[in-house]
Parts: sequence; structure tokens; C-alpha cells
Amino acid sequence: MKIAVVGTGYVGLVSGTCFAETGVDVVCVDVNQQKIEKLNNGQIPIYEPGLEDIFKRNVEKGRLQFSTDLASNLKDTDVVFIAVGTPPDEDGSADLKYVLGVAGEIGRSMDHYMVVVTKSTVPVGTSVKVKNAIQAELEKRGVDIGFDVASNPEFLKEGSAVQDFLRPDRIVIGTDSEKAQTVMKRLYKPFLLNGHPILFMDIISSEMTKYAANSMLATRISFINDIANLCEILGADIDAVRKGIGSDPRIGNKFLYPGTGYGGSCFPKDVKALIRTADENGHSLEILKAVEAVNDRQKSILFNKVKQHFDGELKGRKFAIWGLAFKPKTDDMREAPSLVIVEKLLEAGATVVAYDPVAKEEARRILGDKIILAKDEYEACIDADALLLVTEWPEFRIPNFKVLGKLLKNKLIFDGRNIYDLAELDELAFTYYPVGRKS
Ligand code: UGA
Repeated sequence: MKIAVVGTGYVGLVSGTCFAETGVDVVCVDVNQQKIEKLNNGQIPIYEPGLEDIFKRNVEKGRLQFSTDLASNLKDTDVVFIAVGTPPDEDGSADLKYVLGVAGEIGRSMDHYMVVVTKSTVPVGTSVKVKNAIQAELEKRGVDIGFDVASNPEFLKEGSAVQDFLRPDRIVIGTDSEKAQTVMKRLYKPFLLNGHPILFMDIISSEMTKYAANSMLATRISFINDIANLCEILGADIDAVRKGIGSDPRIGNKFLYPGTGYGGSCFPKDVKALIRTADENGHSLEILKAVEAVNDRQKSILFNKVKQHFDGELKGRKFAIWGLAFKPKTDDMREAPSLVIVEKLLEAGATVVAYDPVAKEEARRILGDKIILAKDEYEACIDADALLLVTEWPEFRIPNFKVLGKLLKNKLIFDGRNIYDLAELDELAFTYYPVGRKS
């Protein structure tokens, strides 16, 4: 079996590499020549635990290849996955020019039956557009070649993408063709030996499933954040409340951690896109509009606490930030709460010294010289007025508080992820501001 994966971002690269692991021949295609050259030289452009091992093994075996040329790689391909970006347009809707561009190219080059699968997160209805774009090119060529389209949304999380791909909770495939079902079943069988299901459905429902899943998860986060803020006001403890509600199996205890708001390349974009699709179809998604508003507000809570603590006098002060990535185990800073916190501190005239174990280059690229990047977490704290914990990297969990107490100007910690022990910090005479916990 041979497959082509177009687009070497998170989804494309992880999918392609993991498919190769099952013995399938995979070619990953990207228009970005530099990226392909790097990949051909063994350089992986993203940070993702476990990826390098599988990548190297399959490249050595000759099962995983990289190319800028889609047309010639379609010759003996059974399945093409479209995993290119769908960046938000100026008006917030997903820009489909890359997805439809790839579809057009497939139509111009294919010479035998294949299944064309949309893996990028695309607005509901896109797979039909992909089908039409391919068909239009075939008609221009005056040829009659059969093909099927399918939608196969990806549910992997950055930071655990490889594990998520290798051991999925479920695989969702939207298609109206039995032939395509058979091909997709064969391709995914090795990943479902754990008994988890492959769910076949119609294409629109499959596209909708992706948005509904991310929107539901974003809703849980905004809900728990809002409840945490109320706990703080009323003197309740969100940790106790979280466990109290999470023990009900109908609610469950996952994805109920309060913080500084959700970020990343998925939740913010997908919530916006679904709101928009609904609006365009005359239906207002009131819950999701509130989810978004709560999240925007939540990104400022840490800054608001700092401001309040210092009675608004932040000019000339220096703050240490631990963690810039939108979550641990990734270098991704897209829509990261850290960006809002940094901007607000800088606007208020403060200096920011930050440390992130991985997102250093990304921080430099996005923030330039606006902040100082420390070489480690302790250096960031030297003479700082306070420490702000923004991303819960494992290595920040048990710091040496005695050393911190000496390095910081004030024994003061604002914890955006609730990772420290209240009693321990109290004993060490730290002033500690968590989110929604009794401090
Ligand atoms: C998310 C989904 O979890 C994946 O299933 C989906 O495939 C992916 O989007 C996508 O559409 O591509 P991801 O954005 O990588 O994955 O990250 P998550 O681990 O879901 O975290 C998202 C944000 O929510 C982070 O900012 C995280 O800090 C925040 N979060 C998560 C909370 O604030 N509280 C929680 O309890 C969980």
C-alpha cells in the first residue's frame, strides 16, 4: 500500500510518520522546498515527543520519504491525505485555498482510482468542495477516472501527538463509498488493535464531529475557569469542587483544570469557525460565544492579580515568567495566554524575563527583543518582583523554593496552573495567588 500525505505540519508529519510505522510506503509532500530539504536531511521542524525515533527508523527503512512534487508521487498511490493549513481569513473564516489547491492538483495529475481524504480541520461542507474541485479538473482533461473522497478528522493533541495517533480513542471516517471504507479500514486496522472503534458516517457528520469535539472541550475549560473565578470570590476551593463534580461519571474528571485560558492552534480557531458557520446559516451558537468571551477574559486574570497586588504600580518592575508555550511539551505559542500576559505587563511599563524549556526560538521569533530570555528558570527570577507560572512544564513542579525565595525580590508567586502546594508555600512565607483555590 502507498499513501501520500500533503502538508508537513503537526498533523501531516505525525500522521505520515506513524502510518509508515505499519509498513505502508509514505511520501510526505510540501510546497515549502526548505522544509522538505530539512526533512530529507533528517531535521524535524516541530518538537513532538517520540517523533524522532519513529521518523529515523522509517526513513532508514525507506518507507518514509519527502518531496515537493505531488504529481509524480501520485502514480502508484492508493490514498492521498490532505493535511495542509487552513489559516483564518481576515474575517475569521477558514481559508480553503491550500486545501482546494491540492484537490485541483490531484485532479490534474491522477491516472487511477484513489481515495482522497481531508484530514485538515475544515469547515463543514468542504469535502464536497474537494470532490468538485477534483471532478472539475478531470472534466477539463476529458478523462473519466474514478475516485472517492472521505473526511477523516484528526484528534491528536500537541505534545502527545505520536501516542494519540498510535493509540487513538476512535477513528472517524466520513464517506459515502463502500470501496473507500474498505481501504480506510485496512489502513487503520493496525492502530485499533486496542479494540477502540472506527466510526463510519456520512461526510458532513464527520466534519461536524471534529468541530463539536473541540467546541465541547473548550466549553469545559471556560466553564471550569468561570466556576474557579467564582470559587475565589466566594471562598470555595476549585480543587475540591473539581473532584466533587468529576467523580460523577456523567461529568468525568478529565479536562477540568482551571488556568489562564485555552490557547493553541485548534480551540480558538475552531470555536470561532463554528460560531461563524452557525451565524452564516442563521443560527446563533450562544454557548460558544460565551465560551470565547470567558476565555478572552481568563487570559488576563494573572495580569489583573499582579496589578491588584501592586496597586497598579507596575512601571519599572521586573517579572519572571515560567513557561511561554500554550501548554507543556510543545514549542507552539499560537494564541498562548503568555502572549497576553507579556503584552499587558510591557504596556504597564514592566520588564519581563522569561524561561521556557523549549519555546525559546519561537519566543524570539514572536516577541523579538521585547522580553529577556533567561537561560534557566532560576536565572529568570533574579531580582524579579514576582514569579508568574504560566505553563505547567513538569520541571517547574518541584522547584527549590528556598533558592527562589533568595533570588526573587519578593516571595511572591502568581500560579496560573495551580501546581504548587498551598501549605508548603505558606510555611515558607510566600504570598501565593493560584486560580480559584483557597489561598
Ligand atoms: C486539541 C484537542 O485536545 C485535540 O483532541 C485536537 O485534535 C486538537 O486540539 C486539534 O484540533 O488539532 P491541543 O490544541 O493540542 O489539542 O491541546 P490540548 O491539550 O487540548 O489543550 C488546549 C488548551 O486547553 C491548552 O491551552 C491547555 O492548557 C488548555 N486546557 C486543557 C486547560 O486549560 N484545562 C484543561 O483541563 C485542559
